[in-house]
Amino acid sequence: MTPNPTPVAGAPALSVRDLRKTYDTGVEALKGVSLDVAPGDFFALLGPNGAGKSTLIGIVSSLVNKTAGEVSVFGVDLHAHRDAAMRLIGLVPQEINFNFFEKPLDILVNYAGFYGIPRSEALPRAEEELKRALLWDKSRTMARTLSGGMKRRLMIARAMMTRPRLLILDEPTAGVDIEIRRGMWQTLKEINAAGTTIILTTHYLEEAESLCRNLAIIDRGAIVEQGPMKSLLAKLDVEGFLFDIDGTLPAALPDIPGAEMRAVDDHTLDLDMPRAMDLNRVFAAFEAAGIRVRSMRTKSNRLEELFVRMIAQGQDAQGSQAA
Ligand SMILES: Nc1ncnc2c1ncn2[C@@H]1O[C@H](COP(=O)(O)OP(=O)(O)OP(=O)(O)O)[C@@H](O)[C@H]1O
Ligand SMILES: [Mg+2]
Repeated sequence: MTPNPTPVAGAPALSVRDLRKTYDTGVEALKGVSLDVAPGDFFALLGPNGAGKSTLIGIVSSLVNKTAGEVSVFGVDLHAHRDAAMRLIGLVPQEINFNFFEKPLDILVNYAGFYGIPRSEALPRAEEELKRALLWDKSRTMARTLSGGMKRRLMIARAMMTRPRLLILDEPTAGVDIEIRRGMWQTLKEINAAGTTIILTTHYLEEAESLCRNLAIIDRGAIVEQGPMKSLLAKLDVEGFLFDIDGTLPAALPDIPGAEMRAVDDHTLDLDMPRAMDLNRVFAAFEAAGIRVRSMRTKSNRLEELFVRMIAQGQDAQGSQAA
């Protein structure tokens, strides 16, 4: 790749090639990660604790030194043109790190000043960002007194002060209740719709599902799954039903290709099937087998469970590669 100090038209917002990180302690946090994030994308980086998400983000935002590999931001090589690449990025780190004894307005204006944005320009921007974050009425109160959710929103507002082309958020909604989380999702959707590429790490599959178009799942320093959210969900998307049966079940249950069925007791059937599958097929098979359904209900959402299963499969694959 030719090092370039200015953004290259058509280049990925983020390109990571064979990125490796071994900490001084000997921990291999990244074992050769490659991924591309398209301009304008809303991209999720999912993975369990210790997977390497923050390490990856730390390297991309120049807080952590890589051991090997290449990173470029809109075609700007991070190694060759660190400052130019950094100007394109806004970072919302995992830990809240503003001064609790400053006021939100000052936090934003001072942050902009650090990036060379004059006060006259920073003030109207700060007002705009604080209003978007629903914090304008708190702009002159001590940051320490903000609630946890407000602090998280202030972190996003601060990152937006430099008008980044790529906004990276490391678990922005950790520990935030569902209502505030939804509000933050709305803010992030607006920022993305206005043209900013967003990369978000999260433990919550539900969050990734409602926000992101593409995702990578990282586990133990390696990518175990990558692609459009829709196709991953199609893989994960199994729906479970419980059927209450009139009379007793036949000895041999009907075979429905793609679905898994078992009798819970004499008059209850448990069925798992792909969400894309037509329930009529199930009813046709029941009809043919003389099974009469009295009632049915959906089982609880199993996405989280399936996510865990996918991680486990990735570990098996890694294990067998290593063997
Ligand atoms: N500064 C450090 N020094 C040594 N090891 C580290 C350091 N930071 C992270 N690690 C290790 O690297 C691995 C990946 O950690 P990382 O923080 O990147 O994971 P994560 O995916 O962000 O996890 P979480 O979801 O818990 O935030 C872990 O084993 C962690 O203990
Ligand atoms: Mg982390």
